[in-house]
Amino acid sequence: MATQTIVILDFGSQYTQLIARRIRELNVFSVVLPCTAPLSEIQALQPLGLILSGGPSSVYDADAPAADPRLLELGLPTLGICYGLHFIVHHLGGKVLNAPRREYGHAEVTIEDANSQLFAGLPPTISVWMSHGDEAAQLPAGFHRIAHTANALAGIESAEHRRIWAVQFHPEVHHTPLGAQLIKNFVFSICGAAGDWTPAHFIESTVAQIREKVGSGHVICGLSGGVDSSVAAVLVHRAIGDQLTCIFVNNGVLRKNEFAAVQKNLRDKLGLKIVAVDASDRFLTKLAGVTEPEKKRKIIGAEFIAVFDDEANRIAKESGGVDWLVQGTLYPDVIESSSVKGPSQTIKSHHNVGGLPLGMKLKLIEPLRDLFKDEVRRIGRDLQMPEDVLGRQPFPGPGLAVRILGEVTPERVALLQEADEIVVAEIKAAGLYNKIWQSFAVLLPVMSVGVMGDQRTYAYTCAVRAVHSEDGMTADWTPLPYDVLKRISSRIVNEVRGINRVVYDITSKPPGTIEWE
Ligand code: XMP
Repeated sequence: MATQTIVILDFGSQYTQLIARRIRELNVFSVVLPCTAPLSEIQALQPLGLILSGGPSSVYDADAPAADPRLLELGLPTLGICYGLHFIVHHLGGKVLNAPRREYGHAEVTIEDANSQLFAGLPPTISVWMSHGDEAAQLPAGFHRIAHTANALAGIESAEHRRIWAVQFHPEVHHTPLGAQLIKNFVFSICGAAGDWTPAHFIESTVAQIREKVGSGHVICGLSGGVDSSVAAVLVHRAIGDQLTCIFVNNGVLRKNEFAAVQKNLRDKLGLKIVAVDASDRFLTKLAGVTEPEKKRKIIGAEFIAVFDDEANRIAKESGGVDWLVQGTLYPDVIESSSVKGPSQTIKSHHNVGGLPLGMKLKLIEPLRDLFKDEVRRIGRDLQMPEDVLGRQPFPGPGLAVRILGEVTPERVALLQEADEIVVAEIKAAGLYNKIWQSFAVLLPVMSVGVMGDQRTYAYTCAVRAVHSEDGMTADWTPLPYDVLKRISSRIVNEVRGINRVVYDITSKPPGTIEWE
């Protein structure tokens, strides 16, 4: 039986992914498609209902997103949000005009039609978040107004005739406190969803699919130690056991004890078959003398592919061939690459385990490509994975190399590993680790004079960085409590011989980036 799905068509709103999340929080599966998706693609998912997102355009603009208006004729329960409302009105014969008064921010909405299924359980007035410059001046035949603000129309429906509802405000954002109820009404009472898309259900159906797909084939997976590749590997292991071999490469710029810790967690505790390759020397030799950040990234990326390729070929020889490659691709990456907004500019080249140009022609298994990060953690918990794998802060593919400014040498890696361990330990001890997106140390090739005991010192500087972020795209520096900073600073200077000064990075992103290189 097909998974019950709500399809969200993205007209370019910054909130589109939030709509998907709100629905998934109700244990109902939802997917985001670009608004230009062909009708056949929408229908192939056999959706229970459609949501048309907001967007920055005006329906009458020459470059308004080119969605197929026949999607309004599919007979599916449909909810338009903001631009989605304009789209419905415009294409079904009503009129949308530039509003005399733009509405942006908080507003009070009065519900006129208390019998509307969309507003069931809501009080007569609700506080909402508005963000629009256009308004529906004339409704299409068969529609009537169900809500308004002091300035404008706020909701319409053609419940019986067309099964279409639309609101001018954004029910998906936190600034619309009762918005979740509205979405619930749409998903459950209007679309008739069962709400059975739970982690257990996801694991069960994914495991069955992987088993069927792979048959008796052999599968490899590159582990990075991060949450995504680990959960992907455990899920595939659950399906096919030792037909899966994981490759974990020590690139010489992992955190202290990371190489051992990952093996312990995934091999010893969870039983995965892991080929652990210590290629530190190979990487560090290639990095010798290199100071330019992009060059470091490119070297590490290329070397990783070379090592992985060698291992994969070896495994293929031993096991009589490899057919599949597991990747920990997440849903935001999938949406990003198919969004109406197009790819954004490359600031830094990212080298993840993904996109390996292996000589062998491998087919892809991407068991997490429908999930958001926090959903991956929920799945990991259901798979009984250890919290120190699931709660781990993001760590870049090029590792400590992009946190050692200037040349990466074995001595500098060792220094940074020590300092980094202290930062993480103190942040954990203060109970802050899971509340912070990332917290780490950076080694600066800046020497300064200090005094320890009666001795003059002349040593490196360490920068501490801690940031809050939703997705890594933007970030705010975290005001760590002074006593935590104090402990970090005094422990680093006292315990890490070679660092005699600690500074705190108070730069947000933008204009800074999270990593220093
Ligand atoms: P920046 O420094 O661009 O980092 O603000 C944003 C987020 O991405 C992580 N990052 C990487 N992750 N491979 C990765 O898998 C990389 O090459 C890479 N570079 C940066 C960074 O840690 C932050 O979370």
